[in-house]
Amino acid sequence: MKKIITYGTFDLFHIGHYNILKRAKEHGDYLIVGVTGENYDIGRGKLNVHDSLATRIENVLKTGFADEIIVEEYLGQKIGDIIKYNIDAFVIGDDWRGKFDHLSRYCEMIYLERTKGISSTQIREETFGHYDIGMICDIVDDNQIVKEAKLVNGFEVKNVCSDDDNVLESLQEKYAIENSFDSYMDMVEESDIIYVRCSTSKRYDYIRQALESGKHVLYDPPATFKSDEIKELISLAKEKNLILMENIKMVHIYVFNQLLWMTQGGLIGDILSFNCSISKNDESRSNLFYDLSVYTLLPMLKIMGLDYEKADFNVSKDGDNIEFASMNFVYPNGRAVINVGNTIRVDNQLEIIGTKGTIRMKGDWWRSKSFELHTPGSSDVQLYTTNFEGNGFKYLIRELSSMLSNNRINSKSIFEDESIKIVEILEDVKKAEK
Ligand code: CTP
Repeated sequence: MKKIITYGTFDLFHIGHYNILKRAKEHGDYLIVGVTGENYDIGRGKLNVHDSLATRIENVLKTGFADEIIVEEYLGQKIGDIIKYNIDAFVIGDDWRGKFDHLSRYCEMIYLERTKGISSTQIREETFGHYDIGMICDIVDDNQIVKEAKLVNGFEVKNVCSDDDNVLESLQEKYAIENSFDSYMDMVEESDIIYVRCSTSKRYDYIRQALESGKHVLYDPPATFKSDEIKELISLAKEKNLILMENIKMVHIYVFNQLLWMTQGGLIGDILSFNCSISKNDESRSNLFYDLSVYTLLPMLKIMGLDYEKADFNVSKDGDNIEFASMNFVYPNGRAVINVGNTIRVDNQLEIIGTKGTIRMKGDWWRSKSFELHTPGSSDVQLYTTNFEGNGFKYLIRELSSMLSNNRINSKSIFEDESIKIVEILEDVKKAEK
């Protein structure tokens, strides 16, 4: 009996899929079809899959060509499958020609011509909405959103505007953005989503104008230092049924959800201490202090809660520039200490101590792909990791995409009361600054 194996995502099942399965079966007697698992697709950056795994399996089964279905769950699984299932030939479309030649040591490799003129990508583009993102920006570097938005179906940074002509020119050139605008309101008009990425003093106005014009907004936080202004923006977004979302990538990364699950679900016991430090040397951006603080406050509020009893802030300044600040929060059963260095360097780290274990993230923890779990009485350190390329922006866009397609305006990654609390804390830090 000749055993054949083939793999695919089989999203939005189409004639190309039917044809390849039919021809694969004709090459042997028994066909095993590997359908990609959701985590595997997410891990390899394929974020635009529409159908659930169950639907994709059902569609493959309906053809009647598959004798057995398996789920492809991790990179490198194919070699193990070939050995485990005693495979004689591996069949795949010729879009993969050359990519699997190393498998020819294990079994025969058969590349079949793709059916022309159809793909899941094409169907997704034709069926689902398309959103043009317009970016108002005053820095050229690190605009990963342009690259990562393309990985989520239907999203593209198409328009750009800047108050600085040189920045505008460089941005358009560096990231090959289709349209540049001198006028912010002209860009707003032409875009579906506005991404506000400029100095803090301008954010509130740009956000308000975009919302008033009926556009969804993504912004680098904080939007403002005034709690009544953030409340106003949130209620304006609600009134107009628009999304207003902070660009905090960390909360969209899987490993952070694992961390929340452990801390909020009581797996490391009662939380006694939350300790974190952050500093970043980025000369292209002046006074990053408040931007950095947001990154520390959000996990603190999620893990320790919103109801601290007392807070005090120790702010050290050099002229107008905040060099360093220490923020201390007293909770009923624990404490949080946050150190933020702007021009003064501190070692980046995050540590959460619970009665049953300690979680540690070293280095740039806000973009870390792993954390350590230390359990009392055991010398074993468990490592929780997630793998992805880029800086995680694609996961944020994916949530945006899910919110838009479900007509939901509230993010489940950052809650409204957390957004307000962060601005209230920063407002108090501002007072302490004087
Ligand atoms: N396939 C094919 N002809 C097509 C599309 C796909 O023969 N027009 C084959 C692929 O070569 C692969 C299998 O079908 O062997 C599963 O492909 P999959 O990646 O799931 O489908 P695509 O339509 O290529 O999906 P996407 O656009 O998301 O890459």
